[in-house]
Amino acid sequence: MSADAQLALPGLFDQTVQEWVWTEDVGEETEVTEFVHETVMKREVTEALAPAAGVFVDATVGGGGHTEAILEAHPEARVIAFDRDSAALAAAQARLERFGDRVTFVKTPFGRFDQALDSLGIREVSGLCADLGVSSPQLDDAARGMSFRREGPLDMRMDPTATEETALELIARVTDEELADIIFRFGEERRSRRIARSIRRSLADNQLHTTLDLRRSIVRAVGPVRVGGVDPATRTFQALRIAVNRELEQLEQLLAALPSRIAVGGRVAIISFHSLEDRLVKRAFQVKDTWSVLTKKPMVAGDEESAVNPRSRSAKLRCSRRLAREPAAQQGRLSLGPLE
Ligand SMILES: C[S@@+](CC[C@H](N)C(=O)[O-])C[C@H]1O[C@@H](n2cnc3c(N)ncnc32)[C@H](O)[C@@H]1O
Repeated sequence: MSADAQLALPGLFDQTVQEWVWTEDVGEETEVTEFVHETVMKREVTEALAPAAGVFVDATVGGGGHTEAILEAHPEARVIAFDRDSAALAAAQARLERFGDRVTFVKTPFGRFDQALDSLGIREVSGLCADLGVSSPQLDDAARGMSFRREGPLDMRMDPTATEETALELIARVTDEELADIIFRFGEERRSRRIARSIRRSLADNQLHTTLDLRRSIVRAVGPVRVGGVDPATRTFQALRIAVNRELEQLEQLLAALPSRIAVGGRVAIISFHSLEDRLVKRAFQVKDTWSVLTKKPMVAGDEESAVNPRSRSAKLRCSRRLAREPAAQQGRLSLGPLE
């Protein structure tokens, strides 16, 4: 199927909303007017996707900035918008109301990309964007427990309604060594062992309940000095958030599903915010005969954007175009059919 052939999807946007497809009920509890997230590299993502008549996926709709840009760029583009956070979906729905049924909201982790498309009866899409990590409202909401600047419960889940464990439950479940490994691997923190021991001691002393307790415990282990302008708690908070939300696993699942779900000629644009994510994206796009890489080096935000949106400074955008369905060698092998 070509990237333009998606218009042929009959009735996609008027089919019955499925159990996991998000509807507006979460909006009642959500203060959507307070959702302010500055979209990163909007122009670059839109140009890379080159929206046309077809169905696109925004794997991380957040406040809806990228989805809006796609819908504005082409009057016959449609978007399936994923997020695992009901508050984000509520905000995006409010912002994108004017596009009516050109956008469908789906509450799901994007690691379930395959299953989500199956449930909507879609085989392939014309393109996908993902703007990884957390949004500003998620960081700013003390109740989410993601920021060491605000006192909140040690939760850190992007979907607080999920059954997955909270950061506190994770800390309580693992051993000192496992905690150190998480902090080292996902936070790239060299002082992980010292920090893990201190956190577990705080837990044993019944001194670990909130984000500020966690920061105090980290500071007790490594001191209050900011290295390179970075708070001593930054890496450990990042590590725990990544572990709680299984962020790398989610990304791996999404990347693995892309080759069979992006139509030939379709484009993918992924923004990552740390090297662990960027490495996975780079490696996935290196599969020869599957992707034509459009960004030999990752694109970064321009000076103007970096000046007004600090979050954009660590953004790296990689884009690729889907090549032929199967590599030539594979096609040859398949034609042998009965001999296999
Ligand atoms: C950086 S924000 C996206 C902002 C959006 N592009 C905009 O312009 O408003 C990232 C969003 O992705 C969501 N998210 C992160 N990981 C996810 C996952 N594995 N599955 C679904 N949503 C995820 C978060 O809940 C958050 O709302």
